[in-house]
Amino acid sequence: MKIRVGVVGAGTYGESLIQAFYGAHMMEEIDFAAVADLNPAALEKMNKLYGLKGYADYKEMFDKESLDAVAVVTPDYLHREITIEAARRKIHILVQKPLATDVREGREMIAAAEENKVMLYVDFHKRFDPGHIQLKQAVQSGKLGEIQYGYICMEDKILVPSVWFKKWARHSSPAWFLGIHFYDLLYWILGKAPVSVYATGIKKKLAAMNIDTYDSLQAKFDYENGASITVDTSWILPNSFCSIVNQQIRLVGSEGIQEVDSQDRGVVAAYESEAANMVINPYGKIIDTRPLVGDIPCGYTIESMVYFLRLIRMVKAGKVKLKDLEGHYPTGKEALVSTQMCAAVHESAGTGKIITIK
Ligand SMILES: NC(=O)c1ccc[n+]([C@@H]2O[C@H](COP(=O)([O-])OP(=O)(O)OC[C@H]3O[C@@H](n4cnc5c(N)ncnc54)[C@H](O)[C@@H]3O)[C@@H](O)[C@H]2O)c1
Repeated sequence: MKIRVGVVGAGTYGESLIQAFYGAHMMEEIDFAAVADLNPAALEKMNKLYGLKGYADYKEMFDKESLDAVAVVTPDYLHREITIEAARRKIHILVQKPLATDVREGREMIAAAEENKVMLYVDFHKRFDPGHIQLKQAVQSGKLGEIQYGYICMEDKILVPSVWFKKWARHSSPAWFLGIHFYDLLYWILGKAPVSVYATGIKKKLAAMNIDTYDSLQAKFDYENGASITVDTSWILPNSFCSIVNQQIRLVGSEGIQEVDSQDRGVVAAYESEAANMVINPYGKIIDTRPLVGDIPCGYTIESMVYFLRLIRMVKAGKVKLKDLEGHYPTGKEALVSTQMCAAVHESAGTGKIITIK
């Protein structure tokens, strides 16, 4: 059974999601109908590349397209209104991470989805990375014993906040944009939330460029059993760094240690056409040319988005009930934990205090 799908937001990541959905459309799994964006040039591009009907007003798209599902790929701080409007119209929703940059807004989005009995799926693709799936299995099976401490970093080149979304970087931070991925991953792997956090942050380099946000935010999360995990985030790496993103996770327990280099998968290149050496992660996203259907994106970032479509198809076909899927995908309620962790990181960095996470 096909479902009718739309997207709100055709910017940098919106285009990646549109490629993923277009792949599902080419495989005849969905009917990819339309895209809404405030930027006419983005709509024109999506029409040319994927034949998508464009709308400047997402409400008009909802009015006219009879959608079963929609993806919200607008800037971090602009997820609430569109999500709630979609829920009211009984449209299932994939929202890009973070759920929201405000805990109250996140709760309102969850309530709207619950009231209207639609799925609220948050695109946390790190849960689909085989390295992380195996790490979760090792932790959950007890192979590492009781986790005592851990370390995570996630960093972007300065290109991201200073060029890619210079307009809205001040509404986000390295914690909202990057750290949130690993806050959620920690919750998913450990199966529990931290009880408190102490964080520090620095606002200098981007502030000097008139971009009023943190350069870096460091957080130490403490757990009920005395364990603590440090998460360092920044988005000021030099543009000559070997990839857009740098990221690693290591966990140490009473019976074992496990490290996942989420960035360096062993694929390194240097091309005369490029300024710097490159570390490439082909497992996250790669466009493959398949017989009959042509270019299809694959990899764990794509799998995460397409999984949402598969679940909605199953729900629409009556094969599974929405409530029976709870706990089997990154739900709004689960994502609220990472939003609470991130809000506490900012509160701690702003006040210098240890913040309890409720
Ligand atoms: N999962 C990931 O790895 C990943 C990676 C990058 C970005 N993201 C997330 O995706 C979201 C979008 O990020 P981006 O980098 O694509 O940002 P972007 O600025 O490149 O694109 C945002 C788009 O939303 C459009 N928009 C804003 N308000 C709108 C509205 N009311 N109606 C219709 N369109 C509207 C803008 O015109 C723009 O085209 C963010 O939440 C970000 O955190 C996720």
